[in-house]
Amino acid sequence: MRRLPLVESRSAVYEQWPARPDDFDAISLLRDARGRRYTYLRLSVTDRCDLACVYCMPPSGEDEHAVRRDLLTFEEAARLVSVFASAGIRRVRFTGGEPLVRKDIVRLVELVHRRTEVEELVMTTNATRLSELARPLRDAGLFGVNVSIDTLDAERFRELTRGGDLGRVLAGIHAALDVGLEVKLNTVPLRGRNDGELQRLVDWAWSLDATPRFIELMPLGEGAKLPASMRMTADDVVDALGAQVCRDTPTGVEGHGPARYLAARDGSGRRVGFITPISDEFCDTCNRVRVTARGDIRACLASRRAISLRNIMRAGGTDLDLAWAMVWSLSGKDRGHHFLEPDEHEHERVGMSLIGG
Ligand code: GTP
Ligand code: 5AD
Ligand code: SF4
Repeated sequence: MRRLPLVESRSAVYEQWPARPDDFDAISLLRDARGRRYTYLRLSVTDRCDLACVYCMPPSGEDEHAVRRDLLTFEEAARLVSVFASAGIRRVRFTGGEPLVRKDIVRLVELVHRRTEVEELVMTTNATRLSELARPLRDAGLFGVNVSIDTLDAERFRELTRGGDLGRVLAGIHAALDVGLEVKLNTVPLRGRNDGELQRLVDWAWSLDATPRFIELMPLGEGAKLPASMRMTADDVVDALGAQVCRDTPTGVEGHGPARYLAARDGSGRRVGFITPISDEFCDTCNRVRVTARGDIRACLASRRAISLRNIMRAGGTDLDLAWAMVWSLSGKDRGHHFLEPDEHEHERVGMSLIGG
């Protein structure tokens, strides 16, 4: 074992660092000790957001917001993506906070598109700035956006997002569709808040040719503080959708993330997605690795274990050092998220906006 002073560790496990191999071939693909293979990178570009959804961001923002020098520069981010690509990453999702609040984000997308071998660049956004940015983002190489939208009622939207303007989000979604971006819509169902609107959200999404998806509330950050009575499982949502979907005919695994899809009952070929971390954990097929806006690699959404790839770069580390840090970070990854054992594992979790979902 040699000591690697470049690693800023939040976990004792990284203080000792096994000697790395001398060539890329020994690293080549990202796998963990359980045999899971990693092909999908979620790259957070900021931990800030212009909204503060009740299940995500505290009303006055996170205490731990990164300041500018903490953030990965665009050059650093593009370099990381290219090392990830040489280790098997094929798809990159830009996340936040809200990625569109990062200054010059279009330039970053363009840089990553131009410099790396990644097959697909996508983004998860709240769409408040998308009406102006959809076209430049598409021109920069973005393929699609996942947009968070929990209600079609302007007043409720303001409440759930603590001040957001639904009109801007709708304009952003239309702009994305108009320029040909693939659009999926993310809704977190909350009993007593938006559960009366689920059918309407599906019909509306379908009318736009966008794919509606429902995400079970995860006990992370603000989400952990909401009353248990608000949580809804995918089954609850399927019940609420009634005749809209065929309950027993999943359309199979599609896309690259954890969502599973049910077909519309009307035979139109449209579908509804479900992301079920609580009722049907998908961790045994996890293919995602995360890099936070500060440049920490995190093997799991539900764990604080992190290595600072940024510090490795700023201390003059080579691409091989970075690749080895990626492998090492994933090697100790846990089996799953332990969301159903809240007390024991609570200290492991931070709000979604600090990781990028
Ligand atoms: P695609 O399938 O590529 O469209 O993306 P995605 O669904 O993975 O991305 P998106 O950012 O839209 O995420 C939707 C929800 O799924 C968010 O709440 C994410 O936090 C959640 N999610 C994505 N990946 C994981 C994961 O690995 N584990 C858990 N528990 N949740 C995840
Ligand atoms: N549980 C489930 N989904 C969440 N999101 C943010 N916080 C939570 C949470 N605690 C969703 C947002 C967005 C996506 C990136 O994650 O609605 O669509
Ligand atoms: Fe992967 Fe962790 Fe998400 Fe499970 S919770 S799917 S292990 S990132």
